[in-house]
Amino acid sequence: MKRRDFILGSTVSAGALLIGNQHTAARRLLSLMPAPQSADSRIEILTAEPIGRIAPEIYGHFAEHLGGVIYDGIWVGENSRIPNVKGIRKSLIDALQKIKPSVIRWPGGCFADSYNWRDGTGPKDKRARHTNFWRDAPEWSKNAPDGPWKYETNQFGTDDFLRFCKLTGAQPYLAANLRSLTARDFYEWVEYCNSPAGTTTLADLRAVNGDRDPAKVRFWGIGNESWGCGGNFTPEEYAAEYRRFTAWVPGYGVELAFVGAGPNGGDLDWTRRFFTKLNERRALGSMWGWAMHHYSWNVSGGRTNDWQKGKGDAVNYNEEEWYELLREADRMESMITDHWNVMGEIDRTHRVKLVVDEWGAWFRPGSEVDPTHLLGQQSTIRDAVLAGMTLNTFHRHADKVAMAAIAQLVNCLQSLFLAHEDKFVLTPTYHVFDMFAVHQGKTSLRTMVTSPRPSYTRNGEAATIRGLNSSASLDGKQLVLTVANPDLKTARETEIAVRGATISSVKGSALTATDMKAHNSFAEPNNLSPREISVRMTGNSLVYSFPPASVTRLDITLI
Ligand code: AHR
Repeated sequence: MKRRDFILGSTVSAGALLIGNQHTAARRLLSLMPAPQSADSRIEILTAEPIGRIAPEIYGHFAEHLGGVIYDGIWVGENSRIPNVKGIRKSLIDALQKIKPSVIRWPGGCFADSYNWRDGTGPKDKRARHTNFWRDAPEWSKNAPDGPWKYETNQFGTDDFLRFCKLTGAQPYLAANLRSLTARDFYEWVEYCNSPAGTTTLADLRAVNGDRDPAKVRFWGIGNESWGCGGNFTPEEYAAEYRRFTAWVPGYGVELAFVGAGPNGGDLDWTRRFFTKLNERRALGSMWGWAMHHYSWNVSGGRTNDWQKGKGDAVNYNEEEWYELLREADRMESMITDHWNVMGEIDRTHRVKLVVDEWGAWFRPGSEVDPTHLLGQQSTIRDAVLAGMTLNTFHRHADKVAMAAIAQLVNCLQSLFLAHEDKFVLTPTYHVFDMFAVHQGKTSLRTMVTSPRPSYTRNGEAATIRGLNSSASLDGKQLVLTVANPDLKTARETEIAVRGATISSVKGSALTATDMKAHNSFAEPNNLSPREISVRMTGNSLVYSFPPASVTRLDITLI
């Protein structure tokens, strides 16, 4: 089966080369740096080379009505014995608050284009029940009983989601149904959320159902994967729909940010043709962001491109699969730069920014914590390294990426949490978000890295992937460097130099494991968590040995 045949029926792969952020003059400088005897790697932080502000919205999440994300994950119900705030799992709210979740995307995904927001409003016992988009997915466990994950009960709707956002401090990002509802349904959803109290019938309804005050929702997705489950459109057809949906939408004092449904992975043709068509009617100004999705799923070492056969297990993998997954993740960089370049052919001033609103690892079924958790999977130290690499990539392209959302928040794909009934655990990916949250809103600085490429055997041939993967940000005298080491066996003794500033002190923490399959579980929730580390200072540089399979954060105070 090809990639997501279930939702589409077409395969496109990026297959582009990695484009590093290396700069020749700085590279020359780097090679002149005296390295400590044993150091085999160098990181140089260039304080005079700011890239841009790291949008807090890069630290976004995604919650779809899919398997155990909403029902069991977020929503436990108001009468549940599981501690909750108006039906929302309390432990999830508490853990999320800690990592500053800037934005949460809802209700899908593919589900969004089958969803009528009206069904999720009003008295809960009167709410409509409908077949969930994912009911017929081939990945369902045979043991999965019927329930709201297959037949949507709409117990969690717009008011509940907006409350969840308020409780966690996140901004809502709502995805409109472009495939099966009208433009009117869309702007009435905006009216329901944003029109001032007492001004419209929908504002009155909102006051009865949830909140008197407008939610001021800024981010609106105009469909989702419109090349596939979102309507199977051509880019030209989707551009016409996009224009119709966004042509007249009152803002109610909110600067609405519309996000267009971007390509299938690396499909540059979709981006080019959509931008060209939109521009014919001078409608580019109506778009704030262009969505891109990138899942790391094919660990077959090039043996197959089959969407089902190419996937591996979340926990039981070998060395080749470790590297293959991270190699897939590292394609994010070229996907960003390639799409950015194509967007720039038409949007010459780069008004429109990139929104990577689905990213993460996607494994075959089998490690879900409950049969009702469709696409649920465990998350190991490998996922943590993947998350560290990806967030670093976003920082290195802070001038291009305005928002992102890892897929998905809980019980689905690369989750930050696993939850079932009263059991709840933080995954290693959560810890990376916790360690990296400090970058939000800071200025991304260019880093220059030289480090040996880890080698492995790929389908019988020698292969390598990029070595240390880093990013840095500055806020006054506080410099933060985050580094992922994808090498399974070798620690990287590294000299770290800060150009244009003097180091006063340093401290840090690292997430690592000697077992490449290490993960947290309900039984062993603290197997993996970050530990404090000590870093050596020599003159104006630092020396640190990044452990194999690790994610590290250094907090450097400058004079
Ligand atoms: O995250 C799971 C699914 O992956 C989403 O619903 C869809 O947008 C993508 O194909």
